[in-house]
Amino acid sequence: MRRPFVAGNWKMNLDRASAVALAEGVAKGADSLVGVDLAVCPPSCYLEAVGRAIAGSKIALGAQNMYHQPDGAFTGELSAAMLRDLGCTYVILGHSERRHILGETDEEVNKKVHAALAAGLTPIICVGELLAQRKAGQTMTVIRRQINGSLAGLSPRQMTGIVIAYEPVWAIGTGEVATPQQAEEVHSALRKIVEDRYNDSIAGSVRIQYGGSVKPENAAELLGRPDIDGALVGGASLKVEQFLGIAEKAG
Ligand code: PGA
Repeated sequence: MRRPFVAGNWKMNLDRASAVALAEGVAKGADSLVGVDLAVCPPSCYLEAVGRAIAGSKIALGAQNMYHQPDGAFTGELSAAMLRDLGCTYVILGHSERRHILGETDEEVNKKVHAALAAGLTPIICVGELLAQRKAGQTMTVIRRQINGSLAGLSPRQMTGIVIAYEPVWAIGTGEVATPQQAEEVHSALRKIVEDRYNDSIAGSVRIQYGGSVKPENAAELLGRPDIDGALVGGASLKVEQFLGIAEKAG
């Protein structure tokens, strides 16, 4: 069975003191939670401080982005090895804000996925359609293009080290959540794509998180769906009780 996985994407929020306080609160509260994997993904400048705050707890550390090259003249970028050095085990790749605000392509995401795996990080690969694409009936065309592009060239063994997050762009930070049916439809289609690319055993074990306005109030219904294996949480991950409230529903 797939173990649920809930990760908090803190985005470009908080300062050092509030990031550490949030990390400590989440780490403490997670003590009593069973049957769920948890991670927090702070801004990269706070990775080290947050890593210290969650040391010895059930919470893993993740980054929000990285560059695909191992080192060199890439001003402002961080490599996968640097993230490992800071204690990260996960890295979010291809988040819709990076795709749509910063112009990241499937090809770039794919290079990052390969580099992350090579360094021993677990990528959380995000895919999701815009509202206009959903309205135009293009949801699965977009999702298929993004996931196939992001997974290009990965061996079956590498595929077992991947987490996928379905995040409809229209549901991110808007308070508008996909219905459990809408989400499940895409999640089961994503699992089928993985099965067609690899096999049913890999498809059966890959974890697919849902993201987009997940809150304690809607988490149970979403996470109760057969192909939804956890959540990638933005806004609600900035509050200890809300993040833990979601994590409780997943366990
Ligand atoms: P949200 O963000 O929970 O604030 O909608 C989710 C995400 O972008 O990962």
